[in-house]
Amino acid sequence: MPFLTIGENLFEVGAIHPDRILFDCLMPTPHGTTYNAYLIIGKDKTALIDTVDPEKSSVLLSNLADTGIKRLDYIVSLHTEQDHSGSIEAVLRRFPEAKVVANAKVKEMAMTHLHLAEDKIQLIAEGDTLELGGKTLQFTMIPFAHWPDNYMAHLLEDNILFSSDLFGSHYSFPNKAFSTSSSDQVRAAKHYYAEIMMPYRTHVQKYTTKVRNMAPRMIAPSHGPIWSDPELVLSSYDRWAGDAMKPLVTIPFISMHDSTRVMVDRLAVKLAEQGMSVVCRNLGEDTDSMAVETGHFITDLVDAAAVVFASSTVLGGPHPAVAYAALVANAMRPKCKFVGLVGSFGWGTQITNVVNLLTGNIKAERLDPILIKGLPRDEDLAIIDAMAKDLADKIKALPNLVR
Ligand code: FEO
Repeated sequence: MPFLTIGENLFEVGAIHPDRILFDCLMPTPHGTTYNAYLIIGKDKTALIDTVDPEKSSVLLSNLADTGIKRLDYIVSLHTEQDHSGSIEAVLRRFPEAKVVANAKVKEMAMTHLHLAEDKIQLIAEGDTLELGGKTLQFTMIPFAHWPDNYMAHLLEDNILFSSDLFGSHYSFPNKAFSTSSSDQVRAAKHYYAEIMMPYRTHVQKYTTKVRNMAPRMIAPSHGPIWSDPELVLSSYDRWAGDAMKPLVTIPFISMHDSTRVMVDRLAVKLAEQGMSVVCRNLGEDTDSMAVETGHFITDLVDAAAVVFASSTVLGGPHPAVAYAALVANAMRPKCKFVGLVGSFGWGTQITNVVNLLTGNIKAERLDPILIKGLPRDEDLAIIDAMAKDLADKIKALPNLVR
């Protein structure tokens, strides 16, 4: 796998992982991912920004060898998560003279998680610079994008911003590449934003503005292609992390005997009649639906004004697949304004209590749940129609609604 030249004496030397299908044992990655590592050769010093997942250490070492460097002065570790720091040890074995550049949090976590020796670490802080000889890195802290340790490195002479996980995408080309502006890639970046950055969207909003003010010529994240047109990803992040939302209702559902499905279908049709966009995510269609459709559902939450969980009752509670979707959504702290619950049960149900418990972090108005025994009758469907009308009216009245 070749390294990619991104400027004069600047190379991307990391690894692609096109067949990785799941990230963090949670997030489906249909386009695989990349672990980007950037080599900067100054007149006096050489620095490597980040390493790669330990599974790909040999690829990184091979790429470094191909560049012909004989010495490495610095490994700049922008983030301690192992997909970027997990090959530091292997690189240090090959280049024992290198110092690991870290902010205070990376230093603390690298010592804890990677057992890195303290005397191998060179500490930096906000605004500090690292001179390589005609190439200067300046550091900007971005805590909670998405760990407390993340920071960015701005290569001043080339005006390239190495943004760590921020602005990344799980998107792997067969060969390394710059951004193509393809809709597939922007969709991958949105999916990545949803699962990695959305829980911290207030911080992310602030960092997006900060980066726009830095006016980098290119943004080089730690996953996915380099953004050669930074405005493409910055304007997307403005939309995703901002307060605006779409008249979109997302309905993750499980229906064991089709009674709940009848309710979902009716609700979807009636919401659509009221001008709403509706997405129904069947979490039980196939063996991998729970993971895949929950992933899509989480991406819906970037824009959605409302979520309505729909579940059969199983052993008194929600179906486990719906409970899983609720638990993950809760962790993502979406900006939606309304949460509803519908479903059918056999003889008794406690799903309202359980779903409320699972989604306590979602600061949204709770709609009155609609829970029906067995197959819905006409009078039950009329209650769903009223719910659809009420929800659509509430959404239309939101101040930050965009199409
Ligand atoms: Fe890509 Fe937070 O590691």
